[in-house]
Amino acid sequence: MCGIVGYLGKRDAYSTILKGLKRLEYRGYDSAGIALLDQDLRVFKKKGKVADLEQHLNGEKLTGHVGIGHTRWATHGEPNDINAHPHFSPSQKLAIIHNGIIENYDAIRTDLVNKGHKFESETDSEVLIHFIEDIQNHNTSDLEEAVRLALTKVVGAYAIVIISKEDPDMLIAARKGSPLVIGLGKDEFFLASDATPIVEYTNEVVYLNDSEIAVIKGNDLKIKNTEDVHTTPYIQTLDLELETIEKGGYEHFMLKEIYEQPKSISDCMRGRLNAEEGYLVLGGIREYANKLENADRIIIIACGTSWHAGLVAEYFFEEFCRIPVEVEYASEFRYRNPVIKEGDVVIAISQSGETADTLAAIELAKSKGAIIFGVCNVVGSSIARSSHEGAYIHAGPEIGVASTKSFTAQLIVLSMIALGVAHQRGTITEQTYRQMLVEMETIPEKVGKALKLDTQVKYIADLFKDARNFLYLGRGYNFPVALEGALKLKEISYIHAEGYPAAEMKHGPIALIDEEMPVVFIATNDSSYQKVVSNIREVKARKGKVIAVVTEGDSIIPKMAEFVIEVPATHEALMPLVSVIPLQLLSYHIAVMRGCNIDQPRNLAKSVTVE
Ligand code: M6R
Repeated sequence: MCGIVGYLGKRDAYSTILKGLKRLEYRGYDSAGIALLDQDLRVFKKKGKVADLEQHLNGEKLTGHVGIGHTRWATHGEPNDINAHPHFSPSQKLAIIHNGIIENYDAIRTDLVNKGHKFESETDSEVLIHFIEDIQNHNTSDLEEAVRLALTKVVGAYAIVIISKEDPDMLIAARKGSPLVIGLGKDEFFLASDATPIVEYTNEVVYLNDSEIAVIKGNDLKIKNTEDVHTTPYIQTLDLELETIEKGGYEHFMLKEIYEQPKSISDCMRGRLNAEEGYLVLGGIREYANKLENADRIIIIACGTSWHAGLVAEYFFEEFCRIPVEVEYASEFRYRNPVIKEGDVVIAISQSGETADTLAAIELAKSKGAIIFGVCNVVGSSIARSSHEGAYIHAGPEIGVASTKSFTAQLIVLSMIALGVAHQRGTITEQTYRQMLVEMETIPEKVGKALKLDTQVKYIADLFKDARNFLYLGRGYNFPVALEGALKLKEISYIHAEGYPAAEMKHGPIALIDEEMPVVFIATNDSSYQKVVSNIREVKARKGKVIAVVTEGDSIIPKMAEFVIEVPATHEALMPLVSVIPLQLLSYHIAVMRGCNIDQPRNLAKSVTVE
């Protein structure tokens, strides 16, 4: 939801910022813009991608060593040149970039309009920079103080960077709810929504906390909060390799990330699980481990693919730990006055760790005394920091908007948590516990085998690329996989797809089935296998085209389905890790064949930091 970049130092600001924006483009790609300060403060912006801005600026003399840039996911106002960031203040002495939403912008705007302000754009961000300049003109001439005073009046979420024509060696940044990282180079500073634009220059960073304001002046970084209390910047060392954020020879990040899964799953287990020794330890869950082990129920909150991972975890926890689990869409949970008691246990799952709905749901649960365990990918993200304890999934940066390797790594972490809890509670036998650990260690190899199905999946993709609808059906642990397969197809190929529990088909969706309808069954050999076979028969009787993901060696379904994709066998609780692979590949190939933008599908953004 918008990427922001700032630079102050000795480098060429334009090229540094442009490169940073390209790295952050996954956060939004409706428009892009840059403000550069040299002799003058100049703003350049364009609807479309960063490449469109770059092309638009071809031939311009773009000098300067300080600047800010923005790539937008539109919230207030349609994506066009005018609504693109940066936005000028009325005097054009200040410019702002903003990620987030100012909820009370309408009231502030009305006040300012009454004072004679005229706005060019429909954005809340332009209102904020007008407001700051208005305070500067009427209350204090000091920009730093004007920013602070403005932020005390603002309701909503923001990460902002402000550049001032009158202070050419200064940038002011602040955050609340939206992420902001400051990279500390030698006599230079980088600001960005995440560390990816920073890592090639420095590995020393400061993550700004909520309600903090950073003032960078010359070689100096000062941090205070909106209450005017100064703090010492806490410098952290980045653990991020440059190659992990580049395509590395793959045509798309999504394909690279699909293929990274054997490694990301191993990375996720490394040092935490050793089957031979019966060792399973998640270092991030210690002090509150007993809360999990003694929980009367567990509430899982998440959105999108992370929510699907939560559904798999529900089955896993209930089967092995015998603890009731409720899986909630964070966006619904936060607004429906949920019943949460002191000491309730909440597991929040989020790749980005910045999803606004999940973050708000966490705050709500915390306010009622719940203990929050975060399962995040992005280290230092807001959700990771607002959780009491948790475990990173260590999948490495996921750049493609469609989540793939995060899903499987989330499943691994959640399985490890559940197995550890089950072991402590004594709800699993020692033998089953050991067998599960052994089986988990085989998953990277089995995922690697499933990836070898790529050519076959591509062939199937070619036959179905023009379908207008798809149904995905599965039962038990494979039901969330059906949902995930449908979501992947929808979001990157724009084909309408529905995921359903296979047995629910007869309660409605069966009416959709005719010879035009491809139906993807996830029908691996598990406890509901025979039931799913019956569901396949029901589809065949209505002339639906069946594509079935089955366990290697299946002898029944190949006689019924048009296409059969055989994946390696594993324990049914771990099967989603394997059965999802062909579905990721299917959506990828169909989207490529339809000419879709794989890594940046329309209307989407990687991290959804607005409601
Ligand atoms: O970063 P999060 O895991 O919190 O994101 C949640 C969803 O926005 C995300 O999973 C989304 O559904 C993906 N685009 C799915 O591929």
